[in-house]
Amino acid sequence: MPPSMTGKLDGGEPCVFVAGAAEASSITIEACSPDDRADLQRMADHALGVGFLEATRIAAQSGLVAKTGSKAVGLLVIESAGDVMSLPVIVVDAAYRRRGVGQLLGLAALSRHPDQEWISAAWISGAEIPADRLLRRIGFAPSHRVRDYWLEDSLRRGFTCPLCGHPCRCDAMIYRRHPDASGSR
Ligand SMILES: CC(C)(COP(=O)(O)OP(=O)(O)OC[C@H]1O[C@@H](n2cnc3c(N)ncnc32)[C@H](O)[C@@H]1OP(=O)(O)O)[C@@H](O)C(=O)NCCC(=O)NCCS
Repeated sequence: MPPSMTGKLDGGEPCVFVAGAAEASSITIEACSPDDRADLQRMADHALGVGFLEATRIAAQSGLVAKTGSKAVGLLVIESAGDVMSLPVIVVDAAYRRRGVGQLLGLAALSRHPDQEWISAAWISGAEIPADRLLRRIGFAPSHRVRDYWLEDSLRRGFTCPLCGHPCRCDAMIYRRHPDASGSR
């Protein structure tokens, strides 16, 4: 029998996902609160680049936070983009990666808008797309590549990419998810 991982969506309903990460059983998924900002800021500065996710932006957006005890170890931002939902940011604390936390966040987001189409621009970091496997797992499929995806944004807001510096010249792979999609195994 495959190992299962359990979590709680905010509101307290328990949920069980069959996946390979028993350690994620102590993780809860909650709506982002001001208490989480310091942890989230540190995590985002390190993984996505200093200034990419300012405190004001975290506060203004609809975010889901993965927590262990009172420590925030993952963040997923949900935005509405016209008639589709967008997942512009997903990040997990480096010490908690590869334990199913990202997948737990992704499934929690989808469960809030189950009948909608989703879109996500995934960072192409050198030869890798760190979120590729995670997105496919929860039913997204790659659509097309966009060159210099964050260039204008990094010039306007002044953030520094952890891979290429400032301004950011990284490309993005656009992924889409139809409401009836099932994830890959
Ligand atoms: C991408 C990220 C959010 C994944 O979070 P995570 O909690 O480690 O993901 P999970 O443990 O839920 O893994 C989900 C799947 O992705 C795979 N995976 C996770 N990180 C991976 C990586 N860096 N490279 C390749 N595959 C990876 C896992 O093996 C798993 O697949 P499997 O079930 O077939 O084994 C995390 O690595 C991260 O924060 N990276 C830095 C920020 C980033 O690049 N964010 C995406 C920007 S678009």
